[in-house]
Amino acid sequence: MTAMGGVKARSTTNARMKNMTEATELNRPAKTTAQAAPLLSVRNIEVVYDKVILVLRGLSLEVPKGAIVALLGANGAGKSTTLKAISGLLKTEDGEVIRGEILFDGERINGIDPDRIVRRGIFQVMEGRRIIADMTSIENLKLGAFTRTDNEITDDIDMVFRYFPRLKERTGLAGYLSGGEQQMLAIGRALMARPKMILMDEPSMGLSPLLVKEVFSIIKEINRDLGVTILLVEQNARAALSVASHGYIMEQGKVVLDGTADELRDNEDVKEFYLGGAGDQRKSFKNLKSFKRRKRWL
Ligand SMILES: Nc1ncnc2c1ncn2[C@@H]1O[C@H](COP(=O)(O)OP(=O)(O)OP(=O)(O)O)[C@@H](O)[C@H]1O
Ligand SMILES: [Mg+2]
Repeated sequence: MTAMGGVKARSTTNARMKNMTEATELNRPAKTTAQAAPLLSVRNIEVVYDKVILVLRGLSLEVPKGAIVALLGANGAGKSTTLKAISGLLKTEDGEVIRGEILFDGERINGIDPDRIVRRGIFQVMEGRRIIADMTSIENLKLGAFTRTDNEITDDIDMVFRYFPRLKERTGLAGYLSGGEQQMLAIGRALMARPKMILMDEPSMGLSPLLVKEVFSIIKEINRDLGVTILLVEQNARAALSVASHGYIMEQGKVVLDGTADELRDNEDVKEFYLGGAGDQRKSFKNLKSFKRRKRWL
């Protein structure tokens, strides 16, 4: 058995459609052929910054509706760039998707302005929290609802306080909140947009192990109670795989491995690189002879 033996290549929508036509001959069970299209589908994208720096080199991933999917990888792999490509925020950093496409709910969204992507139902919680320090928690939460015109905003602020009760007690400026509380506020602000999908960039960053556990269990609750689909970028693979159903591992602007959370957790290389802490001398997935992955969108 190869080192990667436990991890299966994920079936793509294209492959599924092909399977549908072959299903009669193969007598494939209905369960396999009747799978819904993913809510988010990133297909073979290439991203450059400043017109020349190629950072994503043919990245593909899918997020099924209602799922939590983890995107893992070392510093500089391109995780945040992937989220910014999806949310349209690349534009603010002179970045651009130059190839491939991003489909949300069946429609192409690359090239669209970030505020319109929020209106379509995608909200990104940026790395490092990015709350407004000289506003209160409630003012920060109201900012999250900028696209809404309904009169249920106060109800939703109460809902956020139910998930994060300690935010209710802190009535001062958000800049004085602890790191964990700021992270909670950033997630709460995303909920205020009533998104279909939240992109979370390293929610565990700077949190104590106990707080990581607390924040991740609330992420799971939010997903379960509200049905919000979540794409979760993390360096803390253990925490991310504890809540995700599937995961992707990125290196140098590409996905090098994907599978169910269980498959990834049991995989020897994932254990060595991401769960066991192999230190600075870790190998690259690219150097593993056992690792062969087909380009799926070419
Ligand atoms: N605005 C930018 N302009 C130029 N290069 C950038 C820009 N943002 C990121 N990069 C480069 O793109 C690569 C990927 O960066 P990115 O922030 O996406 O990685 P990451 O996987 O999120 O890393 P980390 O875990 O450290 O947050 C890095 O080499 C980085 O230097
Ligand atoms: Mg990042």
